Amino acid sequence: MSEIIGVPPAALELMPAVFPFPFLGYRILRGRKRDRVVRNVLDLIAEGKLRPAGANDPANWMRGWGCIRDIVRDEGVSLETLSPQYHKPLPACRLGGDYVESDDPLFEFKLSVTVRKALLGHFLKDHGKIVEFGCGTGLNLFILAQLFPDKELVGCDWVAPSLEMLGEIAASLDRPIGGCTFNMLDLAGGDDVPLAPDTAVVTALAMEQLGKDYLPFLGFLLDKKPALCLHIEPLVELYDADDAADAAAIRYHRHRNYLEGYVPALRALAGEGTIEIISERRVKFGNMFHDQYSTLAWRPL
Ligand SMILES: C[S@@+](CC[C@H](N)C(=O)[O-])C[C@H]1O[C@@H](n2cnc3c(N)ncnc32)[C@H](O)[C@@H]1O
Repeated sequence: MSEIIGVPPAALELMPAVFPFPFLGYRILRGRKRDRVVRNVLDLIAEGKLRPAGANDPANWMRGWGCIRDIVRDEGVSLETLSPQYHKPLPACRLGGDYVESDDPLFEFKLSVTVRKALLGHFLKDHGKIVEFGCGTGLNLFILAQLFPDKELVGCDWVAPSLEMLGEIAASLDRPIGGCTFNMLDLAGGDDVPLAPDTAVVTALAMEQLGKDYLPFLGFLLDKKPALCLHIEPLVELYDADDAADAAAIRYHRHRNYLEGYVPALRALAGEGTIEIISERRVKFGNMFHDQYSTLAWRPL
C-alpha cells in the first residue's frame, strides 16, 4: 500500500485505533473478468445518464449533501455516516493497475479512508493551519481533526449542508472547525477565506468538478500564496492510454467533464519558476471508474 500511495509506511500506521487498516482480502480480476469490468464501464458511459461536472449550479450538491446531513443529525458523526454517496459498493474497484473484487462490500470505502488518512497525514503534518476547498461531508476534516488535535482547520464549500456537517463534526469532537461558503468557479466568498502564507490548502475529489475551468481558482491560490497546496484528485494526464482499464478511465473522466489541463498548467508554472512542484504522482486506487487519489503537491515561490 505504501508503494501504491507513495508515502512511507509510517504514514499508514497513524492512529490505527481510530482508523483501522482494512482487511485486504481481495481477488484480482484477470482475463475475461477484467474485460467484463471494462465493458461494464463503457456501457455505463454509453447509457448517457451520468451528469457532467463544470456547471456553475450547486443544486445537485445541495440535495445530495442535504440527505447526508440529515443522516448525520439522526445517527451522529462517524466515518460511516460521513461517507459520500459515491462510495456505494460496485462490482469492482481499481487497485495497483488492476480491477479487484472483495467479499467486503465496504472494501473500497475502507481503503479510501486509509488512503485519505495516509496522504493527509503525510503531506500536511508540518502545517499548523489547513483549509480544505470543496470539503463535502467533512470526511477529510474529520480525519484531520483526529490525526492532529492541535491544528487549525477550516472547510469551504459552496452549499450550506456541507458547512452544517462541519458544525456537527466540531461538536462531536469538541474542537473548533471553521467553515466558509466559497465558489471555486467564480471565487464568490473569497474575501472571507482565512488564507495566509502559513496555511496549507487541500482539495480532494473537488477540483475534479471544475472541468477545464480551473484558471480562476489557480489564480486565487497564486494570489494568496499559501505555504502548500495539496490536491488529491483524478488527474487524467497521468493515465497510460495504451492500457485498456486506463483508456476506460480516461473516457469516463472526459465524459464527466472532470478536471483537465491543470497538471500541464502547473508544470508550465514550475518551468518558469513561479511555483515549485513538490510531488506529482499517479495513485493507482479508485472506484470501478477511475483513480481518484492521484496527488499533486506544490507551493508558490
Ligand atoms: C466529489 S465531492 C468531494 C467532497 C470531499 N472533498 C471528499 O473528499 O469526499 C465535490 C465537492 O466539491 C464541491 N464543489 C463542486 N463544485 C464547487 C464549486 N464550484 N465551488 C465550491 N465547491 C464546489 C461540492 O459541493 C462537493 O462538496
